[in-house]
Amino acid sequence: MTLKSKNEIEKMRRANLIVFEVLEALESACKPGVSTLDLDRIAEEGAKRRGAAPVFKGYMGYPAHLCTSVNSVVVHGIPRKDEILKEGDIVGLDFGVVFDGFVGDSARTVAIGKATAESERLMKVTRESLDCGIEACRAGGRVSDIGGAVQRHVEANGYSVVRDFVGHGIGRKMHEDPQVPNYFDARNGLRLREGLVVAIEPMVNAGGWEVDRLNDGWTVVTKDGSLSAHFEHSVAITDKGPYVLSQP
Ligand code: MF3
Ligand code: CO
Repeated sequence: MTLKSKNEIEKMRRANLIVFEVLEALESACKPGVSTLDLDRIAEEGAKRRGAAPVFKGYMGYPAHLCTSVNSVVVHGIPRKDEILKEGDIVGLDFGVVFDGFVGDSARTVAIGKATAESERLMKVTRESLDCGIEACRAGGRVSDIGGAVQRHVEANGYSVVRDFVGHGIGRKMHEDPQVPNYFDARNGLRLREGLVVAIEPMVNAGGWEVDRLNDGWTVVTKDGSLSAHFEHSVAITDKGPYVLSQP
């Protein structure tokens, strides 16, 4: 794993604040009648206008700038012109940029119009579980503390945590060591150290944790068709505790 200096963490801060601003613009645009491809254009232009480069496009062949994961899509939904968002849908918005040599990466799930009670609760619990993971980002702790904290909150609320996709270290590259699962894994005893930056990204299903991948090679859906939510922040471990880079 690569540890970042205070100066490098401030560079990562700037990349992540650009991601935050673009996610804010995307959330405002999430209204009935908008296509997920419209959102992709807003993300691309929002990054470029701020002097940043979107990082997802071309990553392992990913064809778009943004991931838009609607309802039972867990992650990596590909924006489409013919996918029109409607009242009551939920959509995961996952975006990343590179700015001044460093990557920022963050995601949130938002409702279109008024959320149903069930999707509201799922989004709330998922967002809270990310906060539990962030709270565990302390030097001297272990990587497994993060997943343990996320999983405990999710399961206490009757939901399940996706196993097949995990969070990650982040820096000059989007994906650096270590992997950061959102569930407890005793093999993850690695110590958290000052200067480590991790992207924590719980994917939470209303039903079971099992997922399938569609034939496009990217779109991940819940096996049982249940709703899924996803939130992600990039977090630096500092002497003053967790520093959430992707939130002002
Ligand atoms: N936030 C996701 C991740 O960290 C987004 C990657 S989408 C990809 O893996 F297309 F770039 F792979
Ligand atoms: Co990520």
